[in-house]
Amino acid sequence: MTSIRFIAPMALAIILASNGAFAASAEEGKTAYVKNGCWGCHGFVGQGGSAGPKLAPDPKPLDFMAAFIRHTNGTMPPYSEKILSVEDLASIHAYLRSIPKSADAKSIPLLN
Ligand code: HEC
Repeated sequence: MTSIRFIAPMALAIILASNGAFAASAEEGKTAYVKNGCWGCHGFVGQGGSAGPKLAPDPKPLDFMAAFIRHTNGTMPPYSEKILSVEDLASIHAYLRSIPKSADAKSIPLLN
């Protein structure tokens, strides 16, 4: 009988905490993205630039992104854990995931 009175608030607390953590990490990810200079090549909202491809919306999965960022040896410099922490990398991914898609051209009257 005591269990439901205990579990319900716990479940609520976990839901609230995890939502908060996601919002915070996308926000922190934006900071890490700017601080680490990703924007210089990939644009401020991951739209891509003259030097780097588009990263958002719909970024590749975190596993792929992490492996690429740590080990790339092409034009993009690799970022070791000393430079970019695991947390910052995950936050950057959350930030890129939080970037909305742009409007469909068909929904813009001037273009139709
Ligand atoms: C000096 C320019 C430069 C900087 C700074 C840079 N990138 Fe890149 N990035 C590139 C280029 C160019 C590529 C394309 C692959 C290549 O040529 O190395 C790339 C590829 C990627 C890819 C793979 C994209 C795909 O679709 O395969 C990811 C993910 C990525 N960058 C994330 C980041 C993040 C996150 C940062 C910051 C921590 C960052 N990059 C900083 C230039 C840059």
